[in-house]
Amino acid sequence: MLQNDLLLRAARGERVERTPVWLMRQAGRILKEYRAVREQAGSFIQLVTTPELAAEVTIQPVDILGVDAAIIFSDILVVPEAMGLPYVMDEGKGPRFPETVRSADQLARLQRPDVHDALHYVADAIRLTKQGLAGRVPLIGFAGAPWTIFCYMTEGKGSKTFSVARRSLYADPDFAHALMDRITDTTIDYLRMQVAAGADLVQVFDSWAGVLDAATYRTFALPRLRRICEAITEVPVTIFAKDAWFATADIAALPCATVGVDWAQDPAWARQQVGPHRTLQGNLDPCVLYADAGTVQAATRRMLDAFGPQRHIANLGHGVYPDTPVDRVRCFVDTVKAHQHRNA
Ligand code: CP3
Repeated sequence: MLQNDLLLRAARGERVERTPVWLMRQAGRILKEYRAVREQAGSFIQLVTTPELAAEVTIQPVDILGVDAAIIFSDILVVPEAMGLPYVMDEGKGPRFPETVRSADQLARLQRPDVHDALHYVADAIRLTKQGLAGRVPLIGFAGAPWTIFCYMTEGKGSKTFSVARRSLYADPDFAHALMDRITDTTIDYLRMQVAAGADLVQVFDSWAGVLDAATYRTFALPRLRRICEAITEVPVTIFAKDAWFATADIAALPCATVGVDWAQDPAWARQQVGPHRTLQGNLDPCVLYADAGTVQAATRRMLDAFGPQRHIANLGHGVYPDTPVDRVRCFVDTVKAHQHRNA
């Protein structure tokens, strides 16, 4: 039983006394306590694959920042790794795949792994986290959206344009559809495993949605998001498609509970796009947290009033940046928790 289930009630559209708050990328480098555990682990991948340590850094923001949810410490790239495409994390540069998948031959060599075997460390970390949280707040599970995972598997590393990934949609659509279907199969297995291990809600990150046009997003990305939403029925699902304002209404038409919005979307516009039956999550520009405390408070209150007291989960419009001052993060969290809505 959860002592604080504000996040789940807001996601399901039930009444809340106040708006719940958490931050994307809260488990990470903003906290010196995280950096100490990462040091102890030796590397990012070591930390991700050691359940005791992953659970520890998952719980840190609940203790230190007072957020209303924990998000399991892992990475979206564990899915391609489980399919047979290992990644490396270059210090200060981000993830890289030494091999890529760009042809039918390479696609044929990928596996549909038994996720309980290949990704058991995530299930273990979830079980340990649930024990450590002891019902204080819900635990969020997550995965990358098939399009975003496709981007990394074809491109091999981060990119501003993902032009290798995009090129294949037009030059070899059969390959693109086939690879995205394979990614979707494993992603569904993986999310189901997380729910079985104790995840109370799952979020799908489509970080590179914004490099596609609306029609191409509808053709390639949305059908896979629909399959995921239809497969996960036990817990609320959040879809966060970054920079994809053109798809907000389409995403809201999926059987998801919550639609994540980045800071480019005006709250009233986003509400009009999704209608009354979905919860919105977001959307303060993470850069606001570099301003003085008074500015952070004012911007946070403005955001809360724009979304209104119900069907909103307060968050940033993308992950918190690593060098953000922790006291400003706490200021954001505290401002949400203290906010009095008129007519709440
Ligand atoms: O949100 C959380 O606190 C949970 C942990 C989490 C991480 N990655 C840990 C991480 C989550 C939810 C992710 C998701 C993720 N990973 C996304 C989608 C969200 C988004 O930001 O759009 C993406 C695109 C990735 C891939 C990835 N992993 C990149 C591009 C990078 C390098 C850039 C960066 O932000 O550091 C990573 C590394 C990574 N994943 C770190 C952390 C804490 C930093 C590694 C370190 O500790 O040195």
